[in-house]
Amino acid sequence: MSSLHNYCCIAILSFLLLPRSLHSSCTRPPVIFNFGDSNSDTGGLVAGLGFPVNLPNGRAFFAKSTGRLSDGRLIIDFLCQSLNTSLLSPYLDSLGSNFSNGANFAVAGSCTLPKNVPFALNIQVQQFTHFKARSAELVNAGVNGVLGIESFSDALYIIDIGQNDLADSFSKGLSYVQVFNKIPSVLTEIQVAVKEIYNQGGRKFWVHNTGPLGCLPQKLALVRNDSLDSFGCIASYNEVAQVFNEGLRKLCQELRSDMKDVSVVYVDIYSIKLDIVANSSAYGFSSPLMACCGSGGPPYNYDKRVTCGFPGYQVCDQQSRFVSWDGVHYTEAANALIASKILSSDHSIPKVNFEFFCQ
Ligand SMILES: *[C@@H]1O[C@H](CO)[C@@H](O)[C@H](O)[C@H]1NC(C)=O
Ligand SMILES: *[C@@H]1O[C@H](CO)[C@@H](O)[C@H](O)[C@H]1NC(C)=O
Ligand SMILES: *[C@@H]1O[C@H](CO)[C@@H](O)[C@H](O)[C@H]1NC(C)=O
Ligand SMILES: *[C@@H]1O[C@H](CO)[C@@H](O)[C@H](O)[C@H]1NC(C)=O
Repeated sequence: MSSLHNYCCIAILSFLLLPRSLHSSCTRPPVIFNFGDSNSDTGGLVAGLGFPVNLPNGRAFFAKSTGRLSDGRLIIDFLCQSLNTSLLSPYLDSLGSNFSNGANFAVAGSCTLPKNVPFALNIQVQQFTHFKARSAELVNAGVNGVLGIESFSDALYIIDIGQNDLADSFSKGLSYVQVFNKIPSVLTEIQVAVKEIYNQGGRKFWVHNTGPLGCLPQKLALVRNDSLDSFGCIASYNEVAQVFNEGLRKLCQELRSDMKDVSVVYVDIYSIKLDIVANSSAYGFSSPLMACCGSGGPPYNYDKRVTCGFPGYQVCDQQSRFVSWDGVHYTEAANALIASKILSSDHSIPKVNFEFFCQ
């Protein structure tokens, strides 16, 4: 608890001491390493497995597919842009990558468990370990433009994983209780990952919890029998997500007291996303439970045989009016709103400004 307390003091002090203009500028953005699944995959699946991610993915911002599962930018992209740092290159992308501002190890579909299969969280952390060792080797050999050892201790480490552990368990037919019982081992994997990165010198962690799984059009279209909550989402799926999140919140608290000199910020993505679903019209969105890109039409526009970008799909005209892009992933418009709410710090524990990580 004392590290949490210190952390807040530092944040408040820096706010008081710095003139506003200086405070809001990021002259030296932090190096960022990101770990996770499709929510933050900036091209890892395409680079690593050659999996086709076609237009209309990317059409709203990049005007081509970048491997992101969205019409445009992801939350991680907006976070990078808020610090004026370049969008993160996928670690696995061997052409045109630039790792001078960090690397993105996230790959769509990743889980924490089972371990040791591509690209489980522990594999992503092993890749990071390799990346760090290789950087040191190249620095020693006098190669320019490679991250030095100090970059790794100053870097910001972002983790956003767990959604697929829950979703895959349900889709394999596990019951609510069985999925519930898997949560502690998933959390242990996240704990092991943070501690490993800490052992490698990492001190600054930014941890996203998982969103309301039961509000995804894909789940709603596939799981026809489960009871829906007042938002029209699958109640049991959202309950499990909340149990996971409560465990993750406690884990972050534990990590802060276990490890010296560490900052661990826990961000409540669940409440941000649920608010957007629940209050969608106030935010300018229509049909928050219907995918823009998919097939089958209302109410969910999701058919697992014809998903976005594959032959036969249909795509809406006004993607910025939709929360869900393809039934699983959010639109750029929703991601922009989610990122702005993340940056407000209103949903963070402790309430640390993202710009705090600027050096
Ligand atoms: C990012 O750059 C823009 C324009 O160069 C500047 O106005 C803005 O304050 C910068 N933001 C941060 C967080 O440094
Ligand atoms: C890599 O990106 C950094 C900024 O993130 C930039 O300063 C540098 O010029 C880039 N290097 C190359 C080779 O493009
Ligand atoms: C859905 O409900 C029907 C009728 O109660 C049942 O026969 C079917 O097995 C259920 N499907 C699933 C996936 O639980
Ligand atoms: C919807 O908006 C209202 C008013 O801002 C807020 O009180 C409520 O918590 C929001 N609903 C959700 C589920 O966040």
